[in-house]
Amino acid sequence: MEWNFWKKFVCAAPVLYGVAIGVDLCLGDSSEKVLPGSAADTLTLVDKRMAYLVYNLLDSNGMIVGADLQRGEDLFMRNCRPCHGDDGRRMNLSHDMWHPRYIGTTAHDEAPTFWYMMNFGDSARGMLPYIDEIPLSEMIDIAGFAQTLPRHPWSAQEAAEAMREDSILEAKRKKANQQ
Ligand code: HEC
Repeated sequence: MEWNFWKKFVCAAPVLYGVAIGVDLCLGDSSEKVLPGSAADTLTLVDKRMAYLVYNLLDSNGMIVGADLQRGEDLFMRNCRPCHGDDGRRMNLSHDMWHPRYIGTTAHDEAPTFWYMMNFGDSARGMLPYIDEIPLSEMIDIAGFAQTLPRHPWSAQEAAEAMREDSILEAKRKKANQQ
């Protein structure tokens, strides 16, 4: 066969493949649906949660709309503060002290990553999944509040303030020990 034919064939192959997939999706057997709650259903759950975020919660700037920030703050303090700290800066998630990243940074700059981690966690990194613990409406408030947390390292002023508080606490502790 001619060289030209093969060239055309190679160019058309992806298009034909796409058409074939389209036909398969439209006419394909729908009895292969994943049963809700089956082992294969986990992916569907992730898809649904992520799609919910993208279609219902994010505006064009990637900000959560419709969150109750006050309720979000209360929920954050109850559920997330023990590990992530009052303002989300207890843990540096980048593990790079020169380019720190906190959950405030992730919530603001990468809402889908934040949303995924809050829902499904990451056992390798030690973050728990909250999908069965926290209702969806409360997660929306937490995510909205988390976007307002600081995204940058402590300023010199903030650090000085924290150190002052620490030394007051330390003095109190010493005093208590002496009694
Ligand atoms: C028991 C401790 C603990 C609690 C409670 C906790 N987390 Fe985490 N979280 C972690 C750990 C550990 C990591 C991973 C840290 C690392 O990789 O250095 C993490 C990571 C994350 C990340 C990933 C951020 C990134 O940029 O990679 C997000 C988002 C997050 N947590 C959100 C939350 C939210 C929201 C809550 C409250 C609903 C919460 N966490 C409660 C321990 C906790």
